[in-house]
Amino acid sequence: MTDSSSTSAIETVNISMTYRSGKVEVPALSNVNLTVNHGEFIAVMGPSGCGKSTLLHLLGGLMQPTSGKVIIDGIDISKLTDAERTAVRRNKIGYVFQRFNLLPTLSAKGNIELAKKIHGNGHLAHNGVSGILNMLGLSEKINFRPAELSGGEQQRVAIARAVVNRPSIVLADEPTGSLDSRNSRNVLQMLRDLNEKLNQTIVMITHDSEAASVASRVIEMKDGQILYPPSKFSYEPEFERLY
Ligand SMILES: Nc1ncnc2c1ncn2[C@@H]1O[C@H](COP(=O)(O)OP(=O)(O)OP(=O)(O)O)[C@@H](O)[C@H]1O
Ligand SMILES: [Mg+2]
Repeated sequence: MTDSSSTSAIETVNISMTYRSGKVEVPALSNVNLTVNHGEFIAVMGPSGCGKSTLLHLLGGLMQPTSGKVIIDGIDISKLTDAERTAVRRNKIGYVFQRFNLLPTLSAKGNIELAKKIHGNGHLAHNGVSGILNMLGLSEKINFRPAELSGGEQQRVAIARAVVNRPSIVLADEPTGSLDSRNSRNVLQMLRDLNEKLNQTIVMITHDSEAASVASRVIEMKDGQILYPPSKFSYEPEFERLY
């Protein structure tokens, strides 16, 4: 077993990813080295097409890098079989997709319970599904279907679904991308609560400077690489006030 006190939550070693569509090769990531400590809340920013979603997919074990290693909680997932990688994903990772991917015929509660049934690993966050819905301010909407919920509410259900099994790592791809500012703030507050109260490690992709400002660290990407050190971002409140 791994000793989470001495390992990082996530570590990538020289990961590169080249997509192939037909004869065309599309390089999406090149030699990315990233270490995320337990309990960190990281925002990933950068222009469209720079490789953010590709990086998140690799961190989540949704696909394999062309080269390099992804180490989750001390486990090198690049060495695992598909089945073993799926098991690590189920036990340790909650994934929030940009499009909520909720099942339309199930209620909010049903969507979350289904995730628990499929991915259940025996642990249940707080006092179960109701506890999570409460925490997300959704307790009155548990029987509503996605079509009867606002975008922000659907996103909160999607986040509830991702965290119901209490993963130690939450990966969120533009969770506020399609929300208005009030719903964005709710979703961000929720992610911050999960990070602070449940000590979950969070990696969140965002284009939004306000969203990035809730993170403890911001990583900037460009052309398939992480920029070290990051350039001056407009998300910094001081910067915004100046201009
Ligand atoms: N399945 C795929 N097949 C071929 N090329 C792909 C595939 N997915 C992504 N790409 C390419 O890889 C590069 C990085 O894409 P990625 O989706 O990681 O960017 P991104 O930073 O998330 O962009 P955005 O901010 O627009 O979501 C782009 O050039 C994209 O066209
Ligand atoms: Mg993307």
